[in-house]
Amino acid sequence: MVDGLLQVEGGRPLNGEITVRGAKNLVPKAMVAALLGTTPSVLGNVPLIRDVEVVSGLLTLHGVQVDYDQAAGILHLDPSRVEAAHVADIDAHAGSSRIPILFCGPLLHRLGEAFIPDLGGCRIGDRPIDFHLDILRSFGAVVDKLEAGIRLTAPDGLRGTVIELPYPSVGATEQTLLTAVRADGRTELRGAAVEPEIMDLVDVLQKMGAIISVDTDRTIHIEGVEELAGYRHTALPDRIETASWASAALATGGDVFVHGAHQSHMTTFLNIFRKVGGAFDVRDDGIRFYHPGGDLRSIVVETNVHPGFMTDWQQPLVVALTQADGVSIVHETVYENRFGFTKALCKMGAAIQVYRECLGGTACRFGQRNFYHSAVISGPTPLRGADIVVPDLRGGFSHLIAALAAQGTSRVEGINLIDRGYEHFMSKLGSLDAKVTRLA
Ligand code: EPU
Repeated sequence: MVDGLLQVEGGRPLNGEITVRGAKNLVPKAMVAALLGTTPSVLGNVPLIRDVEVVSGLLTLHGVQVDYDQAAGILHLDPSRVEAAHVADIDAHAGSSRIPILFCGPLLHRLGEAFIPDLGGCRIGDRPIDFHLDILRSFGAVVDKLEAGIRLTAPDGLRGTVIELPYPSVGATEQTLLTAVRADGRTELRGAAVEPEIMDLVDVLQKMGAIISVDTDRTIHIEGVEELAGYRHTALPDRIETASWASAALATGGDVFVHGAHQSHMTTFLNIFRKVGGAFDVRDDGIRFYHPGGDLRSIVVETNVHPGFMTDWQQPLVVALTQADGVSIVHETVYENRFGFTKALCKMGAAIQVYRECLGGTACRFGQRNFYHSAVISGPTPLRGADIVVPDLRGGFSHLIAALAAQGTSRVEGINLIDRGYEHFMSKLGSLDAKVTRLA
């Protein structure tokens, strides 16, 4: 059995207010950046999620003193005594996170060596690390593949380089930034990802003393510097969590105010939310998302890198689309295998077909490769409660939304996976008037 079993009495609108804190896809990276400083860093708006715990553990193993005030969301990171960690300890602490790979550049600068265990992360495709290893080699790192993982050394130090990414990968862009800021000389990164979380990491690094410029054509220039200091920064809010609660409000016919949500990071999501028939009011302190009554409308949407519609917004929205009138098409172009979660929705009464073809938009790199990466959703279909198993973080949250929207009782197994990216989601569900009981 997968950890965590939840019983959900569905068919009730989610109503109320919740707060989102810092982005899961920024906070752990900003924590890694602290390794590059000669003085302590302070990070604010830090949520209590599993990925933060994993990175705290890994930093502690490497001699960083980590102090976290959960209630205030303030993290103090003191890297003045960085040291090598034991391979077995790194492996044991890394858990299911992919963040260890981003330790490489900073550790090579600080210690001249780094080790990455076998990486986890959500099962949403192959999720290779070839871009990361090519980047590190291009800076001059020597990569040795061992049975327990990968060992990196930099006998001649790391030098600035020119990198052209085959795809605007978020992690590969972060890898380049975290390595280039202290490499000897200039680095040019072409075809970079420019997600808001990456721009927030650029802000963090600039505060530390880095010199980074971002061109309009996805080229980033970094001038390496000899020393970086600690930073003081407040993490940008989590736009994936925000969109997840927005879709939950829509799918259940509810009304949710998300404190801390920022409009500017979510323009594309808000456009789609409105096209589907959802309503929202933007305030300085957050965004209210609600179902204004009437029928929801079907849409055609394609996931893409920023400023496109995020892949992580896709799964929660698909649940709301099961309640829209007509045929919706969702084309997933970031991950080859991100529709596994729709099986459970079909079991609950949804009408969703997945296809290998690139439907409803431009041809993507998965089109000729046998991946089921387009979904056709016919609605509206009433959902009924069922016993379901959480497949991954975002798919899991979507299962939860489906259970909340469905008539009757559902048992959702494996909800501990959801802790990786949704802070206090059980108490948030409670404050939104959901009827949920944790059985295990
Ligand atoms: N890719 C490669 N080789 C690589 C790296 C990536 O082929 O070495 C491919 C991936 O397989 C994928 C595409 O490039 O098809 C994009 O992957 P990317 O590197 O952008 O993703 P990531 O950095 O591993 C981050 C987030 C994901 C989010 C993606 C896209 C973190 C910790 N994870 O992953 O978040 O979906 O960017 O925005 O920041 C989540 O939050 O649930 C999640 C999966």
